[in-house]
Amino acid sequence: MAALKILVIPGSLRTGSLNAKLAAAIAHEIALAGVEVTRISLADFPLPIYDGDLQAKSGVPKNAVNLKRMIGAHQGVLIVTPEYNSSVPPLVKNMIDWVTRVQDLHETRGQVFRERAFAIAAASESRLGGTRALAALRLILTACRATVIPNQLALSYANEAYDDMDRLKQPADAEELEALVRQLIEFSQYSM
Ligand SMILES: Cc1cc2nc3c(=O)[nH]c(=O)nc-3n(C[C@H](O)[C@H](O)[C@H](O)COP(=O)(O)O)c2cc1C
Repeated sequence: MAALKILVIPGSLRTGSLNAKLAAAIAHEIALAGVEVTRISLADFPLPIYDGDLQAKSGVPKNAVNLKRMIGAHQGVLIVTPEYNSSVPPLVKNMIDWVTRVQDLHETRGQVFRERAFAIAAASESRLGGTRALAALRLILTACRATVIPNQLALSYANEAYDDMDRLKQPADAEELEALVRQLIEFSQYSM
């Protein structure tokens, strides 16, 4: 049987991104569990803002096709999203919108979402830790009929959350991260 693979997508391109840092910490935990992990940057998949006229004229951009196939090559997907004005940032929503437009031969639309497990996490300097962005992202992915695992991680006060070794300082945060990874691996195995 092929090895289990999990894809990690940070939803921010910003230098010093708190969400990219959390994505790296979760990817590290996945690797420690002995699971193959791929962590990408959406900077390597630039996409225009979704526009139906653009799609009608030029088709779906190659980067959307590449992203969809990248997702399709993994049994589990983790999206780590910032919270912008109580929701997901355009980078994350636009990526999902374009990927939902990709339909490979012999597939139904959105099949790539339905056939794998998704996990969601967020990091914010605020007390809520991006909880509202997680609610929005869960709704979007569920509407795409993805299986979104029950566990999630909203990292509050994320700018102060790590020690000098980049480990989470609060035991409660570390436990939530581990529980998220355990459950993502468990649900991803059903997609093999
Ligand atoms: C347009 C905008 C809206 C924001 N809205 C929220 C918000 O609703 N809740 C929140 O906790 N932080 C909010 N923030 C702060 C972000 O959480 C913070 O900038 C965070 O560091 C962004 O993620 P990153 O570090 O991964 O780039 C907002 C930031 C921007 C730029």
